[in-house]
Amino acid sequence: MLGLSIPAMAKSVSKKSESSSLVKHNPIIVCSRGEKWGKKVLKPGWSILKKNGSLLDAVERSANVTELDPEDGSVGFGGLPNENCVVQLDASIMYGPTHNCGSVAAIEGIKTPSSVARLVMERTDHIHIVGKGAQNFAKAHGFKVENLLTERSRKSWLRWKENLSDKDDWFPPTDGNYDSERSTGTINVLAIDSAGDIAGITTTSGMAWKIPGRIGDSPIIGAGLYLDNEVGAVGATGRGEEILRTCGSFFVVEQMRAGKSPQEACEALCERIIYINGGRDKVNFNDKIIAVNKNGDVGCASILGGKGREPKLAYWSNKGFKVLKGTYIIEN
Ligand code: GLY
Repeated sequence: MLGLSIPAMAKSVSKKSESSSLVKHNPIIVCSRGEKWGKKVLKPGWSILKKNGSLLDAVERSANVTELDPEDGSVGFGGLPNENCVVQLDASIMYGPTHNCGSVAAIEGIKTPSSVARLVMERTDHIHIVGKGAQNFAKAHGFKVENLLTERSRKSWLRWKENLSDKDDWFPPTDGNYDSERSTGTINVLAIDSAGDIAGITTTSGMAWKIPGRIGDSPIIGAGLYLDNEVGAVGATGRGEEILRTCGSFFVVEQMRAGKSPQEACEALCERIIYINGGRDKVNFNDKIIAVNKNGDVGCASILGGKGREPKLAYWSNKGFKVLKGTYIIEN
């Protein structure tokens, strides 16, 4: 190994073929949404996977659907901004056969951060690029810098700003119709191809009204996304700080490695987060975890929920499009 530069080493690892297994697997693509978004998001990815196309193209095309859609206020274009009304995006990608990964954080002006994360993985020797550096890297690869703030997101931000305090100069409108819930939506896309290789993406605009520069779990490998080609893949959404301090997705992959089903492993992380927060009556935030194992079994659990508000994941396989209603730990 002496004399081999680090980039050369990385390159030789990343050359491993996408079809590293001779065992035939049933391809599957999974995302952390229900019926409506699930179908929309998974359609392009499944059409690639079912034809034995590129696994990475499949997860990227699917993640791009939400990133480019301004109707989704928690990811990409139209995502909710930070406290200065600037949209800052986080995304990560991981590829099982090489165990390689890439991510960008607090990137501004680029609609598809998951595509930039893929380039970090495939075209650099690094894993994590943030802020202006990430934007410059994207520009170097031909991405356009655009305004990501939609009228809808700007109005939501203004509502928040005006309702922050009665001791400043910003007055809320008089209709009093203000939903103070702080959005932490995100999307995970996880897939297994017919060779049994695994890839995943997590992409988000992060916590609404966050402090500029705040980075959540989504771009951190092992937190908002983790996978192991011999075990399965995991993604998290919700309050990122809790996922970060539990190394959430890594924890769930290791639970599956130790023999838990994806469902049991997701629930184990929810219980762990509740435990470190001091118990069920101390928890007033939500996290949702999704997982798929190497056999194509799926699981989904959240901390909070209720009847009719169960956490969901959607998946597409040779058996068609399906939605799984997961479990929740605390009824709220
Ligand atoms: N899970 C998204 C975030 O906290 O940023």
